[in-house]
Amino acid sequence: MILRKKVIAGNWKMNKTPADGAVLVRDIVAAVGKQSDVDVVVCPPFTGLESAAKALDGSNVKLGGQNMHFEANGAFTGEIGAPMLRALFATHVILGHSERRSYFGETDELINKKVLAALKNQLRPIFCVGETLAEREAGSTLKVVQTQVERGLEGVSKDLAPTVIVAYEPVWAIGTGKVATTAQAQEVHGFIRGLLTKLFTEPVAQKVRILYGGSMKPANAPELLAQKDIDGGLIGGASLEARSFVELVTAAAAVK
Ligand code: PGA
Repeated sequence: MILRKKVIAGNWKMNKTPADGAVLVRDIVAAVGKQSDVDVVVCPPFTGLESAAKALDGSNVKLGGQNMHFEANGAFTGEIGAPMLRALFATHVILGHSERRSYFGETDELINKKVLAALKNQLRPIFCVGETLAEREAGSTLKVVQTQVERGLEGVSKDLAPTVIVAYEPVWAIGTGKVATTAQAQEVHGFIRGLLTKLFTEPVAQKVRILYGGSMKPANAPELLAQKDIDGGLIGGASLEARSFVELVTAAAAVK
């Protein structure tokens, strides 16, 4: 069995000025910046990337964007491209977050273009999927997730697939305090691993990290992270404070 390195990624969403973000990153670096058991990623808003990059310089903490355009540059007012993220030392980018899908109308097709563009520019996509409450109650969770995974990863080569990090985030659990049960989460994670096996072969699927997201916090993380197909977390609320974020990294490092 391949041992997948766990990932704890902080999605700050539309929070923190550059100065506040730098303070948070410095605190994270002081606590877990040297360890290498867990991949730690912080994703500030675009305006905070530069100060975060400076604050994490020389540490093992990595930087990610929260979105990007699929074109590298051009007449796309208000957007930014992958080379701009790279120029600020970002190595990761969150794509297809449910807030992008629901508030900004992002479709599977658009997200797919972004995934391909990220890979072309040596950025690791943190590619998000997940069902709404209505979809779960209608019994269509697996079908919804299947469509999102298949369309979102269309055209990704077997060689590059292990670079992708998938984040399963049930929409009803995001920012609501309602966490999926470990059984609910593991069921979908296992299903996604199965899909990846069909799309890319078993050895490739075994290398892909699949994160859980949705009200993950120090109290519920150990149990979630102990599940066979849960390889880390994409953290919103609990990533805005060094203490809780660092505790999540520690919880991930403790899983054997
Ligand atoms: P949450 O957000 O941890 O605040 O639920 C997770 C996310 O949206 O990535």
